[in-house]
Amino acid sequence: MDLFGRGEDEAARIGYLRREIERHNRLYYELDAPEITDAEFDALVNELKALEEAHPELRSAGSPTSKVGGAPAGRFPTYRHKAAMLSLDNCFSPEELMAFDARVRKALGSEKVGYVCEPKIDGLAMSLEYKDGKLAVGVTRGDGVTGENVTANVLTVKDVPRTLSRCEGCGPLPAEITIRGEVYMRKADFQALNQSRDEEGLPPFANPRNSAAGSLRQLDSSITAGRKLSFFAYYLPEPAPARLTSHSDALALLEGFGFKVNPEIRRVEGIEEAIGFCEHLETIRDSIEYEIDGAVIKVDSLALQRELGFTQRSPRWAIAYKFAPRQAKTKLLRIEVQVGRTGVLTPRAVLEPVNVSGVVVQHASLHNEDLIRQKDIREGDTVLVQRAGDVIPEVVGPILEDRKGTERPFRMPDACPECGSAVSREDEEVALRCTNASCPARLREGLLHFASRDAMDIDGLGPAVIDQLMLKGLVHDFADLFKLDAATLASLDRMGEKSGAKLAAAIGASRGRNLGRLLASIGIRNVGPATAKLIAARFGDVEALMRAEEEDLLEVETVGPVVAESVVRFFRLPQNEVLVEKLRAAGVNMTEPKAKERGSGPLSGMTVVFTGTLTQMTRSKAEELAAMAGAKVTDSVSSKTDLVVAGSEAGSKLEKARRLNVRVADEREFMEMIGEKAVKDEGGLF
Ligand code: IVH
Repeated sequence: MDLFGRGEDEAARIGYLRREIERHNRLYYELDAPEITDAEFDALVNELKALEEAHPELRSAGSPTSKVGGAPAGRFPTYRHKAAMLSLDNCFSPEELMAFDARVRKALGSEKVGYVCEPKIDGLAMSLEYKDGKLAVGVTRGDGVTGENVTANVLTVKDVPRTLSRCEGCGPLPAEITIRGEVYMRKADFQALNQSRDEEGLPPFANPRNSAAGSLRQLDSSITAGRKLSFFAYYLPEPAPARLTSHSDALALLEGFGFKVNPEIRRVEGIEEAIGFCEHLETIRDSIEYEIDGAVIKVDSLALQRELGFTQRSPRWAIAYKFAPRQAKTKLLRIEVQVGRTGVLTPRAVLEPVNVSGVVVQHASLHNEDLIRQKDIREGDTVLVQRAGDVIPEVVGPILEDRKGTERPFRMPDACPECGSAVSREDEEVALRCTNASCPARLREGLLHFASRDAMDIDGLGPAVIDQLMLKGLVHDFADLFKLDAATLASLDRMGEKSGAKLAAAIGASRGRNLGRLLASIGIRNVGPATAKLIAARFGDVEALMRAEEEDLLEVETVGPVVAESVVRFFRLPQNEVLVEKLRAAGVNMTEPKAKERGSGPLSGMTVVFTGTLTQMTRSKAEELAAMAGAKVTDSVSSKTDLVVAGSEAGSKLEKARRLNVRVADEREFMEMIGEKAVKDEGGLF
């Protein structure tokens, strides 16, 4: 048998093919980074099928050929677009934009053209077909003519309305309408996802675009639902509703239907102003919370768009202006290894500080050993570093021409760099884990997570305090935090009486957080804050949850088999039962108002939107309070919104609320409406 499993041993070849098919499926679906063409993939599947037919004794229920209703690879059904989904021509300089404008003006015989300038969102193009106002189909671009039907997954994207809103001045809802836009992942959500993938020992996504595409291509839509995807609508293909005369009108209509339309979009007169927009956009690129890779300039008038028409692959009335990549060369001094809260060892590059378009970069995540080997990154290498739409930079790869021969290949340690215990690699995982459940690094990271904003939200419990508490042997698990008194905390370095008392009060107050937050804090694999909240609302208290079987958990919205198994497994472990008991003894609240009881709150049945900066509490806390008072919290203002709570510096949402005559309250009024006391009694949030 050769290296690829070919030869007499057909059982080995079958095993090899199954592994390869699973691997390519993962590359295709999860990472959106296929290594082979569809035809090559089909060839592997066909070979496996033929071998399995010839050797029935080697068939297996676990084989990729027997999964998902007979479709071997389980890929999505294809769907033919009603109108072709074209791409855009690219350009890279102001001169090229001028040339585009010259072509447009020549074809139209005009002096000056009105343009709409938009950020070019780095995500995945999506076509949404609505029938009688209801979302009927969601399709990826595919080859432009046919795409993948991913409707079930699109339905989980919170910015995609299931039904179109009727808005003032929008006219009657069209019987059929297609809407185009971009599914994307915000930078913060991308980073959090990759961090948890690192912790789970899963390979990371290369950038927010791939993570959006990979998340949308999940065959289990509960996994898509757990990923935080967002959506901007930016185009209504022909036939556009008759009364529309411009692209700006189309965008306003999309907003009226309930879509998010990018707030940076501007209408300008002439290409000079459009160039000004592109330059401005590039300067604010880093401060935008999602990745953009350029600007799109579109002729505003629909009549002029029709006159210009399309080429084979793109409209003549629009162009994409691409930003320069943000890369720089520097030296990789050494690779250090960090231990995360689930015990996963993550290598990190320590770099000679380098300025990558305005930001000094000193560290870059290398994710795992396989990735270092694949890219052949060695300590001492000169490397190319890039900021790919994130705050955490990455090493693109070594610059081989600069190699001197003194560079050192890297190997992950055999022992945990923090506690010296053995490390192991679980089946199928790329990551190594420290095997010591009480490894100090795991405890440290776990405590940091426990105290973080979306978890138990303990203000003032940061790394410096946690390090000292651990060093003094005062804290061995989460429950020990609740034994700390103000005097002990005040005695720590760089703490005083006042800060000690404040921290003690913050820890004390966190006892009253509800079960959802507690579940998000204690390190149940695959359970983030949103899922934790839904699980808590379903079961109401921790006892009921600890008794639950996987099928009970599967009834919770967005919970799929992976999450259900993680939760059940967590509560079956004796040490976690002990932890729950200790937390209970420490007076930590373990209940949550049940979902069905919520209807009775003071905001029962209302749809509420928060906007602007809140001063009394964090946005997530305010949303939680509103939900507990019976409200449904959404992100965008529409005619269906009942209340907008406006903090300071509220902008377009407040304006829109006023325009639509939606009731507006300030933070104080909101607190009054929900009745602080009533909330205290119900869930003990404070
Ligand atoms: S308009 C017929 N507007 O860029 C024109 N596209 O390179 C339809 N994109 O496939 C596209 N932001 O995925 C348009 N504001 C924007 C965009 C945008 C991102 C993507 C889209 C398209 C690709 C073309």
